[in-house]
Amino acid sequence: MANRSRIIVTGGMGFIGSHTAVELSIADYDVILVDDLSNSDISVLEGIKKLCKTEVYFENIDLKNRLACFSIFEKYDNIKGVIHFAAHKAVGESVGNPMKYYDNNINVLLNILYALVNFDIQNLIFSSSCTVYGETKDLPVTEQTEMKETASPYGKTKQMGEAIINDFTVAYPTHNAISLRYFNPIGAHPSAVIGELPLGKPENLMPYITQTAIGLRECLSVFGGDYNTPDGTAIRDYIHVVDLAQAHVVALNRLIHNLNGKSHERFNLGTGKGISVLDVIKSFERTSGVSLNYEITKRRKGDMEAIYADTELSRSVLKWEAKLSLDDMTRTAWQWEQELRKKKE
Ligand code: WQD
Repeated sequence: MANRSRIIVTGGMGFIGSHTAVELSIADYDVILVDDLSNSDISVLEGIKKLCKTEVYFENIDLKNRLACFSIFEKYDNIKGVIHFAAHKAVGESVGNPMKYYDNNINVLLNILYALVNFDIQNLIFSSSCTVYGETKDLPVTEQTEMKETASPYGKTKQMGEAIINDFTVAYPTHNAISLRYFNPIGAHPSAVIGELPLGKPENLMPYITQTAIGLRECLSVFGGDYNTPDGTAIRDYIHVVDLAQAHVVALNRLIHNLNGKSHERFNLGTGKGISVLDVIKSFERTSGVSLNYEITKRRKGDMEAIYADTELSRSVLKWEAKLSLDDMTRTAWQWEQELRKKKE
């Protein structure tokens, strides 16, 4: 029997998964990374191991295959919980290819839930998203804000995921879950050893900014300058990925130590601050010293005008709040981009 508690991290080679693996190690857990590498790169494993003091195991598994999923739980003992990140997450892609999203995001979740029952693992942390709120005007959003119809199949898989988990924890009362609703995770580990690693042209704002600044992209298009916001650009709640990773360890420990109030809890993970695209650009220029080449273009289909979190529940119940600033986010994102390019030279 392993002496240290072990945690399975599905999607553990991804942006948030890799940063969470490091924070789990700091909290003295052994980490079992399970990833099919469909949207991540094996090079991330070296970075994670460099930053971890405890055991880090990697299993290249397609979790849509139930037997393969079960094989992980058979192979390792002393598993105290699962943090489930593994999912496709490109909002735009999901509109054009819904079956890929339902097949992967729902079936993988079902296999994980079957495994939790089969191997009697009680604690699940589910990677949810602010996308579950849909096109709400009711800001800042609280965990009680009514979920609206979400434009993307990706968002629907997160809404369904939470509903499936809810029914699961009712049917299996010894099993507990916390769904964490992320806002916009950006930035990188301060060591610049791990960070966001979009394969191909980045969909998200921050990697597009850093790739433009380093000369990989010609010009950043700011999608829309005519929103009803102070500077006309869309507003989001950006949160440092390390803050987000630490919240996962807090949530996991809440379940392991039976501190949860009910069998399925949900928490917003944001800073509570509404930040515009131009705010992010200004912060980036301040922290990097680079003058960014950008132009305001038309809005991107499906984008919301504004969304940001009410963080009261995370602060008062989860006993967690984001500590890092927007400048910490843009500074670390830039340091990571520069390190990445050095490695590629
Ligand atoms: C942020 C802002 C864009 C790129 C998505 C998912 C969400 C979560 C985070 C998974 C928006 C603008 C962007 C660009 C731009 N992912 N932008 N130029 O769409 O808020 O959230 O990623 O959970 O669920 O929906 O993130 O980074 O794409 O956009 O102007 O080249 O930056 O219009 O206002 P988004 P994003």
